Amino acid sequence: MNTYENLTALITGSAGGIGLATARLLHQRGARVALVDLQAEAGAQALASLHDTDGRAIFISADISDATAAERIVAQTVQTFGQLNAVVNNAGIQRYGNAEQTSLELWHEVLSVNLTAAFLTARAALPHLRASGGGSIVNVGSVQSHAAQRGAVAYVTSKHALLGLTRALAVDYAAEKIRVNCVCPGTVDTPMFRWSASLDANPSAVIQACEAMHPVGRLAQPEEIAEVISFLLTDAASFVTGTEIDVDGGLLALIGGAPKTQ
Ligand SMILES: NC(=O)c1ccc[n+]([C@@H]2O[C@H](COP(=O)([O-])OP(=O)(O)OC[C@H]3O[C@@H](n4cnc5c(N)ncnc54)[C@H](O)[C@@H]3O)[C@@H](O)[C@H]2O)c1
Repeated sequence: MNTYENLTALITGSAGGIGLATARLLHQRGARVALVDLQAEAGAQALASLHDTDGRAIFISADISDATAAERIVAQTVQTFGQLNAVVNNAGIQRYGNAEQTSLELWHEVLSVNLTAAFLTARAALPHLRASGGGSIVNVGSVQSHAAQRGAVAYVTSKHALLGLTRALAVDYAAEKIRVNCVCPGTVDTPMFRWSASLDANPSAVIQACEAMHPVGRLAQPEEIAEVISFLLTDAASFVTGTEIDVDGGLLALIGGAPKTQ
C-alpha cells in the first residue's frame, strides 16, 4: 500500500515552480523526497525551504539532459532512502520558434530535457519501482500535449511525445503494479511563465491575456498542479494508469480559445 508515509519520490526540476511545490506537498504529507535540479544554489535553497528535520529530503544537483544523469540521480536516491517508488518527470524548458526558426541544436536541447530525460529517468527507476512491489511515475506534460501554441514547434512536439511515452510505459508495466500518468497543466505562475512573459515588450499584457484565456479567469498556482501529481503517486489513484489529467482551468474545453470579454 503506497501512502505518503511510505513514498520515496524523485522529482526533477524541483528548485522552483511546479517541481518545488510538489516536493513540498509530498514532504509535508510524510514522504521522502529527492529534489533534482540543474540550478545548484536554487536547489539548496529549495531544500532548506522544506525545513526537513528528520532526513526525509535531499537535493541532487544534475543536468538531466546529460544521458548519464538518470542512473546517478536514481542511484543516489536509493542509496539515501533505501528505496524508490515514485518519480515525477517535471523538469522542462520552453523555447520558441516555428520549424524554419528552429535549429537542430535547439530541437535537440528541448527534446533531450522534456522527453529523453523522462525516458531515461523512468528506465533507470523501473527496477527499483519493481523491487518496491510497484510504484507510480508522473510525467508533467502541458495543454500543449494536446494542442499547439504558435511558434513553439520543439516544445509542442516534446509535450505531445510525452503522452506517447506515458501510454507506452503504462501498458508495458501495468502488470507489475507500476502506473504511469501524465499531468497537463494550463498556464501556471512559475519562473518559466514569468520568463516567457518577459520576452514580450509588455509582460503585464501577456499575463493578463493568459489569465483571460482560461475560463476560470486566472493562472494556476504551482500548488494546484502539485495536488494532482501527488494524488497520482499514491494508492488513492490505484486504478489510474496510462492516462492524462488536464489541470487547465477549462482552457481546452473552450472552443476557439477566445479571451473572456467581461
Ligand atoms: N508554467 C507553466 O505555465 C507550465 C504549463 C504547462 C506545463 N508546464 C511544465 O511544467 C514543468 C515545470 O515547469 P515550471 O513552470 O515549474 O518551470 P520552471 O522553469 O519554473 O521550473 C523548472 C525547473 O526545471 C529545472 N531544469 C530545467 N532544465 C533542467 C535540466 N536540464 N536538468 C535539471 N533541471 C532542469 C530548472 O532549473 C527549474 O528549476 C515543465 O515540464 C513545464 O514544461 C509548465
